[in-house]
Amino acid sequence: MAAGGRTTLEQLRTSALGCTQCALAEGRTQVVFGVGDDHADLMFVGEGPGREEDLAGEPFVGRSGKLLDRLMIEEMGVDRTECYIANVVKCRPPNNRNPAPAEIAACRPYLEAQIALIAPKVIITLGNFATQLLLDTGEGIRRLRGSAYPYEAARLVPTYHPAYVLRAGGEAMAEMRADFVRAKKLVAEGPW
Ligand code: URA
Repeated sequence: MAAGGRTTLEQLRTSALGCTQCALAEGRTQVVFGVGDDHADLMFVGEGPGREEDLAGEPFVGRSGKLLDRLMIEEMGVDRTECYIANVVKCRPPNNRNPAPAEIAACRPYLEAQIALIAPKVIITLGNFATQLLLDTGEGIRRLRGSAYPYEAARLVPTYHPAYVLRAGGEAMAEMRADFVRAKKLVAEGPW
């Protein structure tokens, strides 16, 4: 425990690295805890590591990550050292399948603790899994994106997952860019 009894992000990471709370632990190469500035105003939450992330131990290092990095710089002027990037589940689901409800539930305390410790002003959720978990809704991303929502002391801006935008292109890409601009304005405005 840290001074005052508060767990630090480093302690949380150490605990996650040894986590065996769900079956994903058996197939992982590395736990992908998160990366970036521990005190960032802006946090991204994705779904879960893919093959490249599992090997690298870092979120969003594959094709989706390249798009995320590009849109971050182009629309917000920030790189991955100036924000924080995490996922709903910290271990790779086999064959890139969707994370199962029990796996999401097992990993949820890590994500919630990360958000509480980093205390970002704005959280951008990438895709349905992160958005539905943090907003506690079954509504889909197409309906939810385009607005900002309160999340604890932060504002949550839902947008598409970059893997979807890589497939869909065009309009989805423009909407994701608009969501990033919305988030950038909120970062400048907050805290509330
Ligand atoms: N997709 C995600 O949701 N997270 C990653 O880290 C990589 C791809």
